[in-house]
Parts: sequence; structure tokens; C-alpha cells
Amino acid sequence: MRLQGKVSVVTGGASGIGRQTALTFAREGSKVAIVDIKREEGEKTAKEVGGAFFYCDLVQISGIAGVLDQINERFGGLDILVNCAGLANRTPIEDISEEEWDLLNNVNLKAAFFASKEACRIMKAQGTAGKIVNMASIRGLQADGRHTIYDVTKAGMLAMTRSFAVAFAKDGIKVNAVCPGYVLTPMTEHNLNRKDWYAWICERIPVGRLTEMQEVADAVLFLASDEAKGITGQQIVVDGGWTVHD
Ligand SMILES: NC(=O)c1ccc[n+]([C@@H]2O[C@H](COP(=O)([O-])OP(=O)(O)OC[C@H]3O[C@@H](n4cnc5c(N)ncnc54)[C@H](O)[C@@H]3O)[C@@H](O)[C@H]2O)c1
Repeated sequence: MRLQGKVSVVTGGASGIGRQTALTFAREGSKVAIVDIKREEGEKTAKEVGGAFFYCDLVQISGIAGVLDQINERFGGLDILVNCAGLANRTPIEDISEEEWDLLNNVNLKAAFFASKEACRIMKAQGTAGKIVNMASIRGLQADGRHTIYDVTKAGMLAMTRSFAVAFAKDGIKVNAVCPGYVLTPMTEHNLNRKDWYAWICERIPVGRLTEMQEVADAVLFLASDEAKGITGQQIVVDGGWTVHD
């Protein structure tokens, strides 16, 4: 088992890709803490993985340190942080309000920054090689003009990945990102109601299908495992070839 005895924290672990990551980590021997705002789903996932659920609205930055300290105490360590909680938007630039900008920034980027900062504090004190994996997106690499705030936060997450990787390399902490393409999850399922959307999107992806949650979770697992101990500050794109197709 690739994460035997490790303690992992998955933000956004109640649903979608975060939940799949939590299930995958548990199968590989990790103790898993789910941090999310969705209490019912979070507790359900925590039960499935034999771990624990910690309620946290990540917009409240002041609560993050305490939650990570609680997890550290409860499980006797903190080895892996996966920053997966996120929100998406499709508001045209002309209609974007300051509130919407702040909400997406706070959940997608600011919370990930402060969770990483606090995780590094704990990992440094622990003195063992920690791992952080940030859930970015292909939207952090390219633009379609419709997901503007989301794109900005995901590009910021990639810059943050590089910055933390360099800053904490001397402490043995490895920080990397995964950039998924389109994955059907509660965040994106509504697109299935759009006429011809599914056929259109499959057509533009070279492998001819959407990315699966497990394929993203497998990339996160690789980056969180010892197999990736020589890798830091990088991003793995899991998009079926979308971004390399002209
Ligand atoms: N689905 C895709 O196609 C896709 C593609 C690229 C990247 N991503 C990224 O993957 C991650 C997971 O997305 P998903 O598709 O599984 O969506 P999802 O909606 O199923 O999961 C997002 C999770 O984040 C949690 N969350 C949101 N706001 C929160 C807050 N304030 N505090 C605590 N938790 C909060 C939600 O409760 C939910 O459990 C996101 O960061 C998303 O941007 C998704």
C-alpha cells in the first residue's frame, strides 16, 4: 500500500473528486480527514473511508489552523494535504460582482494558501517529509472567456504551488498540482442538461471522452506517494489530451 500509516487531509472531500481522492487514499492505507462545509456528505464519506469529518467553512480563514491542529492531535500527525475544495463560475466579465470575485478567490485560492501555510507549520515541526497536492484545473492554463474568476484562481494556485515548493523544499515538503480537464461531478453535472453539450465536448477531447474522477485521484495519489519524492513545484495535466490539441 502506497500511503500506509500516513495521515491525509482532503479539503472538499465530501463530494466529487475530493471524495474519490479520499476513497483512493484510504484504499492505500492512509488515515483520512475530510474537511468540508457539507456536513451530511462529509460524514458519509468519512465513514466510508474509516476516517473523520471536520466541519470547516474555508471562507473563515481564522478557523483553518484550529481544524488542522485538531486533525494533527486526533491522528497523531499530518503527512498529506490535498487542497480540493472549490467553486466554479460562468459569469460574463461585465456582470461579475465584487462579492462573486471574493467568494471564488476565498474558497479556491486564499483558503488553499492558508491551509498550506498551516500544514507546512505542522509538517515542519513533525520533521517528516510532507506532501501537498493542489487541485488546479486546465482552466489555470488556458481561457475560454467565460470562467474568468475561476481561471484566475486556478492560475494563482499553480503559482502558489511553485512558490511553496521552493520555500519548503529544504524542509522536505513536496508541493505539486493536478490540472484536471472536464470531469462529471456535482460541480459540472448541470451541463448534461445543455443540448448537445456531451457530444460537443467529447468531440473536442482527443481521447473522445471526459476525464474520470478516478483518473484524477490516481494522479493525486502518485504525487502524494513516495514514488514522486523527486518531484516538486510541478503540475500534472489529466485531460485526455485537451490542452495539447490545437
Ligand atoms: N469537475 C471538473 O470538471 C473539474 C475540473 C478541474 C478542476 N476541478 C476542481 O476539482 C475540485 C473538486 O471539484 P468537484 O468537481 O469534485 O466539485 P464538487 O462540487 O463535487 O466538490 C467541491 C467540494 O468543495 C466543497 N466546498 C465548497 N466551498 C467550500 C467552503 N467554503 N468550505 C469548505 N468546503 C467547501 C464543497 O462542499 C464540495 O464538497 C475543485 O477545486 C474544482 O475546481 C474540477
